[in-house]
Amino acid sequence: MKVGDKQYQSIWLNADDNRIINIIDQRLLPFEFKILSLETVEDVFYAIRDMALRGAPLIGVAGAFGMYLAALEISNRSNPADHLRNAARYLSSSRPTAVNLDWALKKQLELVGRDDSKEILVKKLLENARNICAEEIEKCRLIGESGLPVIEKISRQKKEETVNILTHCNAGWLACVDYGTATAPIYLAHDRGIKLHVWVDETRPRNQGARLTAYELGEHGVPHTLITDNAGGYLMKKGMVDLVLVGSDRTGSQGDVANKTGTYLKALAAKDNNIPFYVALPTSSIDRSIINAEDEIEIEERDPEEVSHTEGYLEGEIVKVRLCPEQTKISNFGFDITPAHLVSGLISEKGIVKASKEGINSLFTE
Ligand code: MRU
Repeated sequence: MKVGDKQYQSIWLNADDNRIINIIDQRLLPFEFKILSLETVEDVFYAIRDMALRGAPLIGVAGAFGMYLAALEISNRSNPADHLRNAARYLSSSRPTAVNLDWALKKQLELVGRDDSKEILVKKLLENARNICAEEIEKCRLIGESGLPVIEKISRQKKEETVNILTHCNAGWLACVDYGTATAPIYLAHDRGIKLHVWVDETRPRNQGARLTAYELGEHGVPHTLITDNAGGYLMKKGMVDLVLVGSDRTGSQGDVANKTGTYLKALAAKDNNIPFYVALPTSSIDRSIINAEDEIEIEERDPEEVSHTEGYLEGEIVKVRLCPEQTKISNFGFDITPAHLVSGLISEKGIVKASKEGINSLFTE
């Protein structure tokens, strides 16, 4: 997608030195646009843990490139396969909820032959990381194609009046290398001339909506309005929302969806107001080993300081301010589970399916 006049992805291999992975530092957006260089497995671990990069599909792709960097770090003294297995374990521990990370690490480990030399492994893991990256981009492009009819239908029903879409967090190109998941149908519909407008939830505590989604939509010229996380229910009741479109960090085998905390409340409000609630996701965000999502998906608990403080821009600087009394006890669950019965459909690269066991299974039969 474009930033100014330039085309960007959220992660890429450095064109001059292929031992370097570049990312956009998402902790500074929209105030500063800074490119970071990741040169070691540790760099990738901290970039994921500290959310310099974030969003389920991007975390997966970063993990794949992290494994390539791990192959470059194989020394004469280590057993290559053991070294890579340890690197995968280490990267996997950076953040727990998005399944894309383990999915991509597994895809890399599957390639590791017991007797492979360092040179062979470097070559294999680089090639595979590039393929995983390209495939994730293509999946997001296809999610756009799959989801477009949903927006077109509402536009027709409204006699081409503006379609109002509510989204939560950032499931845009920054979270996904390119196009985004929830935003892919939005960008496509907008580019095809459908009149639409997006309600952007600010998404406390890290404000991915206010900082990243508003930034992305603004750069692409998509009309949008930033709202507080709690305003969605009121807007839905007032008939100001036609569709809710969100992403997913992990979707279980029964169609239950783990996504950024607050998603569940939007789904409840959508149900009560008869508003379609769709989840856009690549199949790499599906974890078929999960039967009971509520019990089995690990919900990340993050630093209390994300809640007690907030970050903003003041006189040319990013500053942090405290929001509550110093000793206040804080809870900071990063994600929640939206049960399948509240989801109108899953928009994947292979089309739209029901949020159910049958729907999920149909995505995995050739
Ligand atoms: O904590 P984050 O910013 O990594 O959260 C992930 C998300 O951006 C959302 O939950 C998103 O909807 C899924 S990723 C496309």
